[in-house]
Amino acid sequence: MKERIQSLLEEIKGLNATHQEMVEKLRVKYLSKKGEIAVLFEEFRLLSPEEKREIGQLLNELKNAAQDKVAQLKASLTETGSRDETHDLTRTASPIEIGTRHPISLVKEEIIDIFSRIGFTVAEGPEIEDDWHVFGALNFPPEHPARDMQDTFFIEQNPDIVLRTHTSSVQIRVMKKQKPPIRMLFPGRVYRNEAISYRAHCFFHQVEGLYIDKDVSFADLKQDLMFFAKEMFGESTDIRLRPSYFPFTEPSAEMDISCNLCGGKGCPFCKYTGWVEILGCGMVDPNVLENCNIDSSVYTGYAFGMGIERITNLKYQIKDLRMFSENDVRFLEQFKSAY
Ligand code: DAH
Repeated sequence: MKERIQSLLEEIKGLNATHQEMVEKLRVKYLSKKGEIAVLFEEFRLLSPEEKREIGQLLNELKNAAQDKVAQLKASLTETGSRDETHDLTRTASPIEIGTRHPISLVKEEIIDIFSRIGFTVAEGPEIEDDWHVFGALNFPPEHPARDMQDTFFIEQNPDIVLRTHTSSVQIRVMKKQKPPIRMLFPGRVYRNEAISYRAHCFFHQVEGLYIDKDVSFADLKQDLMFFAKEMFGESTDIRLRPSYFPFTEPSAEMDISCNLCGGKGCPFCKYTGWVEILGCGMVDPNVLENCNIDSSVYTGYAFGMGIERITNLKYQIKDLRMFSENDVRFLEQFKSAY
């Protein structure tokens, strides 16, 4: 009897099933009232007390092993009742398409990544703003043309509430809340009342930079922007700062980079100048600091603002701005390899 139990135990250990019905058949064969193990228990009753002690233990082990095996086989089969290790029947029939990052998001992340290496952190502000944050606190004179109905979207006939026309408004929000040192980037969407064409849109994206501390100079601004240009467009990129005017910076400048298409030799893209403009910048006007209760006799700072679409156009040579908001998958799919 011992040998029969032993060989049955081996048999049960090696059992396998590919369907739930097979498992049920095995259960009946070994574990039902008339199953093989029940038969052995019948015979067991006739044994002497000494034999019973030894065989009883073996029999119980056999029964437990059979019960465990049946439970294990049941659990290993899928809901459909069959096990097929080469095919996952729960998968969709059509191929799974991996999505892509939008080029504007890619470039925004890259800008943030570059400036984060020189200590910049990120904050955001509201797209619906009041006149003071978008214009007043930024030193725009009351009659400044940028406040004109042509450029600005106003909300519900209330001329005090506007869609922000630039991310410079976030400078004000941050400086009102936080004391220097401040070294931050403000990315976001901005709106302007422009006719939509291949080179203008009624909304686009900017990244604003702000660095306020004691002894921040124009040399810091130039050095940091040069670092950015070389990281973004390559080590051989040159920069050039041209004097300009913004109400919120004094002095102000616009920055060009050497045309990355022709390497500065001159081509239709750079209108044969060898240079392309990428951002506006300058030293934060003392009036702006004072408007935010920052002592302009103690602190100085620089600011810059760039259009993300513009940087993206330069990096990927996208000729039509409308592509960014049309959600044409043939356009978006091209950025698959970027991540
Ligand atoms: N806000 C400006 C614009 O939308 C860009 C800009 C220029 C931002 C100079 C700045 C700056 O911070 O210093 O055209």
